[in-house]
Amino acid sequence: MTIMEMFLGCMLTKRKDMVGKMTEQELHSLLEEMTLEEKVNQMQQLIGAFLTDEGVVTGPMQEMGLTEERAALAGSVLGTHGAAKLKKMQREFMEKHPHRIPLLFMLDVINGFRTIFPIPLGQGASFEPELSERCAAVAAKESAVSGVHVTFAPMVDLVRDARWGRVMESTGEDPYMNSLFSAAMVKGFQGEDIKEPYRVAACVKHFGGYGAPTAGRDYNTVELSEHTLREFYLPSYKAGIDAGAAMVMTAFNTLGGIPCSGNKWLMRDVLRGEMEFDGVLISDWAAIEEMIYHGYCADRKEAALRAAEAGVDIDMMTGIYSEHLCGLVREGKIPEKLVDEAAARILDLKNRLGLFENPYKDADEKAEAEIILCKEHRELAREAARKSFVLLKNEDALPLKKEGKTAYIGPYVDNRHMMGAWSIIGESKDVTTLQEAVGEYDGSGQAVFCAGSPMVGDDVKLEGFAGSEAQETPVQDAGRMLEEAVGMAKSADTVVMAIGEHYLQSGEASSQANIQVPEVQMELFRKICEVNENVVVVLFSGRPLDIREISEKAKAVLHVWMPGTEGARAIVDVLYGDYNPTGKLPMSFPYCVGQVPVHYNEYATGRPYMPGKNKDRFRSKYLDIPNAPLYPFGYGLSYTSFSVSPVMLDKECMTREENIQAEVKVKNTGARRGTETVQFYIHDVAASVVRPVKELKGFCKVTLEPGEEQTVRFTIDDSKLRFLTENGRQESEAGEFEAFVGTDSATVNCAKFQLV
Ligand code: GLC
Repeated sequence: MTIMEMFLGCMLTKRKDMVGKMTEQELHSLLEEMTLEEKVNQMQQLIGAFLTDEGVVTGPMQEMGLTEERAALAGSVLGTHGAAKLKKMQREFMEKHPHRIPLLFMLDVINGFRTIFPIPLGQGASFEPELSERCAAVAAKESAVSGVHVTFAPMVDLVRDARWGRVMESTGEDPYMNSLFSAAMVKGFQGEDIKEPYRVAACVKHFGGYGAPTAGRDYNTVELSEHTLREFYLPSYKAGIDAGAAMVMTAFNTLGGIPCSGNKWLMRDVLRGEMEFDGVLISDWAAIEEMIYHGYCADRKEAALRAAEAGVDIDMMTGIYSEHLCGLVREGKIPEKLVDEAAARILDLKNRLGLFENPYKDADEKAEAEIILCKEHRELAREAARKSFVLLKNEDALPLKKEGKTAYIGPYVDNRHMMGAWSIIGESKDVTTLQEAVGEYDGSGQAVFCAGSPMVGDDVKLEGFAGSEAQETPVQDAGRMLEEAVGMAKSADTVVMAIGEHYLQSGEASSQANIQVPEVQMELFRKICEVNENVVVVLFSGRPLDIREISEKAKAVLHVWMPGTEGARAIVDVLYGDYNPTGKLPMSFPYCVGQVPVHYNEYATGRPYMPGKNKDRFRSKYLDIPNAPLYPFGYGLSYTSFSVSPVMLDKECMTREENIQAEVKVKNTGARRGTETVQFYIHDVAASVVRPVKELKGFCKVTLEPGEEQTVRFTIDDSKLRFLTENGRQESEAGEFEAFVGTDSATVNCAKFQLV
């Protein structure tokens, strides 16, 4: 048996679930029949324009060193969608391909395809991974009928730095939470079998540690110790892989001074070895070529060598593999086995999707028209939006009284652009504005509306895919708008200010050193607060913001992130009390940008600072701001209130074979039904490697009627006490622990126990 047969046999038998129509032998024979050029070009991904009859895009192709002949052998296409378009492209492509091997069609479907859900950071605020699984399943269905086979999602990078624009794509700062959402989204996209109708293959990204760019500047260097990388950043990738993710995408950054796309330790030892990932590894856009600009490769040929040696199977949009891999093999610089392995994994993915049997999979114009943006999908988008909102402050201002006059003021009052920076297929015409949603709502009383200010002033620089819509209102109108708004606020009982970041102020290549609401809106906010003391703020953003001033002056603050297609209707549901907010922060809101990166699961340091307790000044603290964030991870209010009893443990000592039950009584002490997310944290007091002051190990959502009380239990077993010890193993160590149970990560409600 040749090495190829052993490899193919090994890989394919690993996929016991493989139900594609090509047998192992047929796949093997196909690979044997393919020329080196044909195998190498399976590893090439291009944009659709290179393959359509719109004419070959000669300029960029030449820049990429690409020929029409090699483009005609490509393995996959990204960034194109539409049932009719992709069926045509597939049919014409296969007719010309020497082995009629179908293309894979891949697309960024991050928080929805055409029905857009809250941005992933907002979905994280739901503390409901199952909800994200349902959203991903709908996104898969809408994508699949539009001809898409693979989505470049979920993005599972752990994030701690609000300056980074891509925090909006993450589910936050906690590895346990991110792992639950990673697995849930993979399952939502893929189901039990990606060959099934309405399922797409998922791609866990960006491997690895992309969420920790120095200074929060996108694409910047990532400096993580291996311990921190493993402890905080790797778990969510592993969770997605363990959930069966078909693909992984490399990250742009270096780790240990080596770009991820050429990092053999990261990709061969960790990803393929330790994590046992045997799916397709794709580079991020041009990441292979960027190893030249990193200063890691001298030229494109060396970049091809390094990426192939690291095990990157698909080259996204540089043409480097197509241009150099054949030569490298023929020169003996890389064994043909590397190409065979990569091509086999790509063919295996096509086979698992059933593309050799039906190259169009679910592409269907009729289904497209019926399924996309259907009522059920909109209803799910509205439910997800409601559950993503976090009530940060409420001095009896919400829910709004239905009688009286309410002035809705702010650039988000009559704005449809609330789908987030990655909603590339979503259309703003599908989005209801807040003004329209209030108008639809029976019982909103007297309501008046105005923008009050432009979205951004000249001090805010916007880029992104938008272009013209970036600046809806000319800044010179600001004076007139402000005057109109102040007049409206003076005569209103309550003002609801719909303000926040422009949706293009977050997302890829959208890092910001200033994480405040645009100044032109803050000027409006101040003026409104001068003439009306009942100001409620509905805050839109793709990241945590510095909202000290808003938090101080507003009577209520409801954070809505970028809430998606049904966001406005969901906001009205919450404002008028039809839905009692349940969201909790998945990422700390810093006191100010100077505090960033700030996260709850920090280490104590040798000089911990306990405000009011320390006598000396030599403590780990700032002179000018507190250590604590303005709002901590896990924080969120309700229209009712809850009490949590002291933590009770059924015993104070356990062996590794035993467990301890931690129990609290949660009571609804308010006047209306509500849901609380009770959170369970562990602190390992002393260990061979310092441990975070808290680590989230569980949470439970309880819905209680006024006065109702419920016992909530969390089981502490050895698995919840394990960590990466100095021996490099995931294991627990005997000693003292603290078990915290509360309604956010700042809770001090704890009980001690011993592991013996
Ligand atoms: C982008 C992003 C990545 C995305 C890819 C394809 O640069 O980094 O998340 O999936 O290119 O659009």
